[in-house]
Amino acid sequence: MSTLSFKEIKKTYDGKNYIIKGVNLSINDGEFVVFVGPSGCGKSTMLRMIAGLETITSGELMIDEEIVNDFSPQKRGTAMVFQSYALYPHMTIKENLEFSLKLKKVEQSTIDKKVKHVSTMLDLDPYLTRKPSQLSGGQRQRVAIGRAVIREPKVLLFDEPLSNLDAKLRGRMRFEISKLHQNLKNTIIYVTHDQVEAMTLANRIVVFNDGHIQQVGAPMELYQKPSNLFVAGFIGSPQINTFEMELKDGKLIHPNFTLKDKLDITISKITVAVRPEHIVINPENYDVEATVALVETLGNETIIWVTLDDLDFKVRLNVSESGIKEGDKLKLQFLREHIHYFNTETEERLF
Ligand SMILES: Nc1ncnc2c1ncn2[C@@H]1O[C@H](COP(=O)(O)OP(=O)(O)OP(=O)(O)O)[C@@H](O)[C@H]1O
Ligand SMILES: [Mg+2]
Repeated sequence: MSTLSFKEIKKTYDGKNYIIKGVNLSINDGEFVVFVGPSGCGKSTMLRMIAGLETITSGELMIDEEIVNDFSPQKRGTAMVFQSYALYPHMTIKENLEFSLKLKKVEQSTIDKKVKHVSTMLDLDPYLTRKPSQLSGGQRQRVAIGRAVIREPKVLLFDEPLSNLDAKLRGRMRFEISKLHQNLKNTIIYVTHDQVEAMTLANRIVVFNDGHIQQVGAPMELYQKPSNLFVAGFIGSPQINTFEMELKDGKLIHPNFTLKDKLDITISKITVAVRPEHIVINPENYDVEATVALVETLGNETIIWVTLDDLDFKVRLNVSESGIKEGDKLKLQFLREHIHYFNTETEERLF
């Protein structure tokens, strides 16, 4: 059983600039939580504070009802998997896997059983006598995961573990990590830049920016109801389209177009955000007529970049061949049930 609780966690390296500005979060036992956010927002710092590799400036970190701020890394029951694998190059794969158990003076027969179990689970049996340099990137990453798992940690921490792998292998490893979680059922905190990893692996995603949590929620919650413009722009690929508009006589007016339906609100500056997949071609009932600037044919779908004077935005069509070409004019409708409205000044979601 392992739960985590963060209370007003803060971190500064120099005593002046706060990298983490007060994080509050509870993680349930067995939950797979993914941390996302732009580069430099403090994701790795958060993981390192949990692992005990970095001090916590202030606040309280609890693992299983115990405040662990001052616990050594060994005492916390966490294990971390790094992007760089960090395997011992002079040791064989078996020696890498069993190293932490040897340090703990576990009996060799028990070690052998555990190595066997982990290497079978991660498909490493054929490689146990090799050195890390004799393995591919994907195999090395599996060893790094095995080395963390073999310690039976309360909490597994992953810091962008797949970002050195090519797209195909990432897909494969995503599947492996999902399976691993189904088997072990332990608590996992996983940092990634990759939208697909975040959406597919997470029970809950935590979006960080500028030292604060922006939103916590199930992947589809974040996609369907981003609580502010930052989250709306961060989740979803291609990125959500945004239009800064003025409300006049209940209607939303953009310099280039107007949305016809009446809105019953009093705020005057509103940012309308709509995902490329929620704009459709509809000559009978359209909001905008725009010119095609670029057609990206991806095989399973088509992304169309359109322009209207100085405005440009994207439309995603669920077709492999659209027949649409540069210079075509498209009559486009924003699907009302999928439009997000934000207060332009506070960037918070209105509805
Ligand atoms: N040891 C350190 N001393 C001083 N500043 C540091 C130290 N480690 C990290 N930082 C700073 O803290 C901030 C957060 O860094 P961190 O590595 O946590 O970001 P990140 O979200 O993991 O980014 P990335 O996605 O690029 O890995 C950065 O501005 C970084 O420069
Ligand atoms: Mg990092």
